Parts: sequence; structure tokens; C-alpha cells
Amino acid sequence: MRLLVTGGAGFIGSAFVRRRLAATTDEIVVLDKLTYAGNRANLAPCEADATQARRLTFVRGDICDEPLVNSLVAETDAVVNFAAESHVDRSIIDAEAFLRTGVIGVHVLLEAVRRATETGRKVRFVQVSTDEVYGAVHEGSSVETDQMAPRSPYASAKAAGELLVAAYGTTHGTDTVVTRGANTYGPYQHPEKVVPLFITNALDDAPLPLYGDGRQQRDWLFVDDHADAVGFVLDHGRSGEAYNVPGAGLRLNRDLTAAILELLGKPWSLVRSVPDRPGHDLRYCMDGAKLAALGWQPGVGIDQGLADTVAWYSANRDWWQQAKSGDWAAYYEHQYGRRLAESVEA
Ligand code: NAD
Ligand code: TYD
Repeated sequence: MRLLVTGGAGFIGSAFVRRRLAATTDEIVVLDKLTYAGNRANLAPCEADATQARRLTFVRGDICDEPLVNSLVAETDAVVNFAAESHVDRSIIDAEAFLRTGVIGVHVLLEAVRRATETGRKVRFVQVSTDEVYGAVHEGSSVETDQMAPRSPYASAKAAGELLVAAYGTTHGTDTVVTRGANTYGPYQHPEKVVPLFITNALDDAPLPLYGDGRQQRDWLFVDDHADAVGFVLDHGRSGEAYNVPGAGLRLNRDLTAAILELLGKPWSLVRSVPDRPGHDLRYCMDGAKLAALGWQPGVGIDQGLADTVAWYSANRDWWQQAKSGDWAAYYEHQYGRRLAESVEA
């Protein structure tokens, strides 16, 4: 297959590209804007392998760029859309880019696929979405038919993107599938997200800013599993359907933090309870029966995945120090400066 992978230089997209090139004979074109979150170095392992490098093309560009997207979609069998602004806290600071990429960008991709399909070609569209479209789930677990109830600007942009995807399936007969992944962690994740933020801060003996009482709960999905699930849905998903991709470990944020510190041999005294995120979703939890019935389940448990992740950040200081350069200091001060000044013992 020839795949167009948008956002393929980001955290999960680059894992998808690395794993797909290694496991198949697919040819992949990555279209990535290289925002602060995108990093060409995430694809270095593929570029260093001659047989994989021949099947990989990198294009720096925006999914909102219609002529560019049209030309790339004209040459592809499927589009796998990972491109998004992906951090809830940044969407609270300024949501504009979330809406541009998550709504207009998705529309540009869908229009290109519709046009290609109208010329008689088969082009599948995979939208990589999130459990956050369900909103906070206080008990039980979300199933795919539950109503979307997003509560952050990030989650709302992702829900809006999904609604457009569904509309193109219904109205134009576009071949679409959607994945709703759980909170993902693993190597190459930008240190703004909680797992790498806490690992890298702890490595530097810096404070770990735990929001509120830390009793929020997430279901943690290892990045390789997330990437493989997207590939599985690309290959086997039924057109028009959405699939939950649950994690392999429900954890309270406090317990996740304790596990990270234990792996690093660092003390709990690094943890500071800071004023909570506005509108903080208490819990996400999804039912994975639909994807399991199709034949896929996560393979990496949280204990193993977390140990591998801690080992990777410990061994790849250059990678995350580069991600903590540029506008990082300004972002960190804006997000955490006042919070840490007001923090209390956790
Ligand atoms: P990320 O922020 O690490 O990567 C996003 C990538 O998209 C970056 O490489 C960035 O440069 C690129 N990008 C952003 N805007 C673009 C644009 N307009 N045009 C082209 N490229 C653009 O994000 P991630 O964590 O890898 O998430 C990938 C996808 O998975 C997102 O759609 C996200 O909503 C979804 N998701 C993430 C998680 C998670 O826990 N990280 C969980 C479920 C779903
Ligand atoms: P995050 O990695 O931002 O993912 P999401 O908000 O998409 O679930 O956060 C995961 C959890 O960790 C979430 O409950 C918020 C919490 N958190 C903190 O307590 N402190 C932090 O500095 C960050 C970034 C997150």
C-alpha cells in the first residue's frame, strides 16, 4: 500500500511509521508541519535503514494546504491522520491552532479523499481520535455508541473532526474509519505530557507538578500498541465505524507518579500539589470489546511499558533536552510558574 501519514513526525505518528515500515512493504509519505511537537529525528531510525529509507518520503507542510494535500492524496491508497495539536493545557491557553488543524485541516483531507474517490480510485481515510471525546466518565466504561461529550477545547476540536469524518462517510460515501485511543505514553513523547514531564523533571531533581489531589484516573496505552491498533483498523476496520483503543492499566495520577519515582529511585518529596487544571476530566475509561472482536488487544502492560519508558528517557537526555529548548521556558513559566509558587505538599 501507499500511505499518506499526516503528523508522522509526532509521538504516535512516528511510532506508526517506524513500525509499519519495519513490518510491511508499504510505501509511506509523511506530511508534517513540524510544529514544536513534531521532530524529524523521530524518523531517524527509518532513515538510517536503507530498505526502509527507500520507502519513506518526508514532506514538510500543513494539512490545511489544499493544493499540497490534493497532490499527495492523488498518489495514495490511504490517509492516516495523526496531525493535531495534542495538549489539553495548551488548548486552555489558546485553542485557535487546535481548531484550524482539527477541523479545517481534517476538512481539507476529507475533500481531497472525496475528489480522489470520485475519479474511481479507492482511498481509505483513518482518523486518529481520542477517548477524550467521551468527556469525563465517572463510572463504568465508554462504548462507541455513547454520545460524545467533550469538555476541553482540545477534546472539542477532536470531536468536531470526528463529526466531519462521519458526515463525509454518510453524505459522500467516503471510506472512513476512526480510532479512539486512550492516554498514550512511551519513547519520543514530547515532555509537556505528564509521563515524560514527570520522568524528566525527576531526572533533574525538579518538582513534579501534580494537578489538584492527583485522584484523577487515566487508562494508559503503550505507544507501540496504539500505533499497531491504528494499523490494524486501517487493514481490518469496517467502513464507517469507530473503534475504542483502550489502555492496559487504569491508574490514579498519584499512583502513576509514585511508580515513576520508584523506577527512578527518587523521593516523593519532589511531588508538589498545584492548583488544578480548569475543567479537569476526572476519569477516562473505554470498553475495548469491539476492537477485541475484530482481533486486536493491547500487548504491553503498564508496569513493563513504564519501565521501558523510564529507561528510554534516562538514556536519551539529548532528545528531551532539545524538546525542552526554544519556547519551552516561556511555556513552562506560563503553565507552572504561578502554580508552583502556590503549591503545597502532595
Ligand atoms: P503530537 O503532538 O506528538 O504530534 C502531532 C504531530 O502533528 C506533530 O508532528 C506536528 O508537527 C504535526 N502537526 C500538527 N499540526 C499540523 C498540521 N496543521 N499539518 C501537518 N502536521 C501537523 O501528538 P501525538 O500524541 O502523537 O498524537 C497524535 C494523534 O493521536 C493526535 O491526533 C491526537 O489527538 C491523537 N491521540 C493522542 C493521544 C495521546 O495520549 N498522546 C491519545 C489518543 C489520541
Ligand atoms: P496529560 O498527559 O496532559 O494527558 P490528558 O490531559 O490528555 O489526559 O495529563 C494526564 C493526567 O495528568 C491528567 O489527569 C492531568 C495530569 N497532569 C498533572 O497532574 N500535572 C501535569 O503537569 C500534567 C501535564 C498533567
